[in-house]
Amino acid sequence: MSEQRDLTIHGQWSSRWTFVLAAAGSAVGLGNIWKFPYITGENGGGAFVLVYLICIAMIGLPIMMAEIMIGRRGRHSPINTMRILSRKEGASPHWKYIGWMGVIAGFLILSYYSVIAGWAMAYVFRAGSGEFVGASAEQIGAIFSNLTESPARLLGWHTLFIAITMIVVARGVKSGLEQAVRFLMPALFVILILLVGYAMTTDSFVRGLHFLFDPDFSKITGAGVLIAMGHAFFTLSLGMGAIMVYGSYMPQSASIASTAMIIVAADTLVALMAGMAIFPIVFANGLEPSAGPGLIFQTLPVAFGRMPGGVFFGTLFFVLLVFAAWTSSISLIEPAVAWLVENHGMTRVTASVWAGAATWLVGLGTIFSFNEWAGFTLFGKTFFDLLDFLTANIMLPLGGLLIALYAAWVMGRRSSRDELAMGRPALFGMWHVCLRYVAPAAVTIVFLNAIGVVGA
Ligand code: PHE
Repeated sequence: MSEQRDLTIHGQWSSRWTFVLAAAGSAVGLGNIWKFPYITGENGGGAFVLVYLICIAMIGLPIMMAEIMIGRRGRHSPINTMRILSRKEGASPHWKYIGWMGVIAGFLILSYYSVIAGWAMAYVFRAGSGEFVGASAEQIGAIFSNLTESPARLLGWHTLFIAITMIVVARGVKSGLEQAVRFLMPALFVILILLVGYAMTTDSFVRGLHFLFDPDFSKITGAGVLIAMGHAFFTLSLGMGAIMVYGSYMPQSASIASTAMIIVAADTLVALMAGMAIFPIVFANGLEPSAGPGLIFQTLPVAFGRMPGGVFFGTLFFVLLVFAAWTSSISLIEPAVAWLVENHGMTRVTASVWAGAATWLVGLGTIFSFNEWAGFTLFGKTFFDLLDFLTANIMLPLGGLLIALYAAWVMGRRSSRDELAMGRPALFGMWHVCLRYVAPAAVTIVFLNAIGVVGA
């Protein structure tokens, strides 16, 4: 029985640490460095950050454990894992639709994620050519608008990024990814420390910290709470099967709880450091914290333009950002590719080509939403905004809610206790209660609150 569970047709990580690196590679990405600062800026700072941190601890961590557990027990793509486990547990096969929703969410997220990763690629060359040296915040702003106003340039970078993503996916996560994450993650961390160091030399460091960590609850709305919760799912790669599919390649002997804790801690630390680097620069240069998706591209170059060795560090930073985005993108499309291989008998290469082509096509919508179609809005949102809202704030929390319900109510207590093998029964009990009641109730209340049904 347990021997059978060890089998997966897609191969297995060579050790627990490879799983940690791959999952951290999935979690740490544009969400931490690009999205977290700009949505924090748009939603008023401290109170938003506090809600985000509470969601990470109370909802994110237990659901991450649930996803890894379900994945490792099922050992297939999320769609088939849900189907197979449901059969074993005597539950409805319809639970497989969680897997389906996840595949669609991952595909939609990658379609715009790739466009933003393209900005980061373009900035590798901007930084490398020394364009930022001594440039004013306005000049830097102009460099950014020049890029986003050109569909042709965005298209070129988007195409390149999808291509490099699909090349790794085609080679298989094991051989494709293991080496990449090993040294890139630590390097990214070091350069973030450096950026926080630079931020300390500006006279707005303390103001930046206040903005991030002083909660002013008058600044947060029901919609803001929904965005904070959605981001907790987005940044941890939860609710769509990415962590589940990586869990399915995890060795049977590794501890799920401690592994999940390491990933959550690393992810949160990176986001907070990005915030601590960015907001002091925002205030020191009289920029707007609520500048939107361009925030890091309009602020960090100012710092690189002024610090010693800025051309080198700036180039390195954007290279690492591209790598961070790359390791996340791979996990966004892996559930779809694993399913195509399992159910349609495709090779990984064919599956990757199809998945990549479809993602590329949908990405055009995001490209145009920054220029030609910027005027077309629905509910005041552009195509990009709508896609981001639908995936991060609705599909991921909904997927996460269903995963929590599945793990805590549908899967037998014995199955989960066996798979988690936590040692201490009290910890297992806490996890179970969190997943049974706390996380589902919290997600439901935040949803209802955002549409104005409960609370203010
Ligand atoms: N967690 C990634 C980030 O923060 C994005 C992501 C979301 C990746 C969902 C996989 C699944 O950038």
